[in-house]
Order: sequence, then structure tokens, then C-alpha cells
Amino acid sequence: MNITVSRKAHFNAAHKLHVSQWSDEMNKEFFGLCNNPNFHGHNYDLIVSLTGEIDPITGYLIDMKFLGQLIKEEIEDRFDHKNLNLDCEEFKTLNPTTENIAVVIWHLLRKRLKETYTLKVILYETERNFVEYNGN
Ligand code: NI
Repeated sequence: MNITVSRKAHFNAAHKLHVSQWSDEMNKEFFGLCNNPNFHGHNYDLIVSLTGEIDPITGYLIDMKFLGQLIKEEIEDRFDHKNLNLDCEEFKTLNPTTENIAVVIWHLLRKRLKETYTLKVILYETERNFVEYNGN
């Protein structure tokens, strides 16, 4: 029997979306506000979901204190109140789109979790726009 547990998290970060091979005009046209030369911020909401078997002894899928601490260490401490382009190694050459941030987050969490868990992350850049990644 598989069950899924989820934990929400949040971070604020600034970014600029930009394709270096394109002209400034083309970048502005395509990325709009997210191409603002002096960067701009988003309030990112994250939902981390793990699927697996309930431990027959504890009745837990995972200790939520552990999951909360893991998200804090790997994601919030790394990205909260940062400029993703300038402060974060992960985005030195990778455009910090919601898609790319979700993939980076997935890999950061995956390496700290037991292989028996299936991992999915959902990242909201705005209330209406969100991206889902499960490693496939
Ligand atoms: Ni933006």
C-alpha cells in the first residue's frame, strides 16, 4: 500500500530571466517583467510530496520533523532572500525559471532521501502559475 505525505515551504527570491544569445529587445519581449535589468522578486511556495510505505512500527511514512529540517537546510537556507542569478551557484549558467528551480530543488532533496521514497515537488511562482517535477 502506497501513501503520500506532503509538506509546504516558502521562500522569497529575486531573479532575472535572460537568454544570452538574444538581444535585449528580444529578452524583454519574451520574458517581460522577469527580464527586469535590476531583477525582481517572487514569493515561491513549495510543496514537497513523498510516496512510499507506512512504517509498520511507527505508523509514519517519514518523520515530518526530519522532512521539515531537510527542506530548511537544502532549500530555504540556500534560496530564501537570495538573488538566484548572482548568489546561487545552481543558476550561474541556468536560467532561473520556475521549471529549472523545481528541477534543482528535486535533485537537492533527492540526494538526502532514502531511495524507497518517490519524490515530487510542486513550485508556485505566483498563485496561478506552478510547475510540477517528479524526476522523470
Ligand atoms: Ni520573475
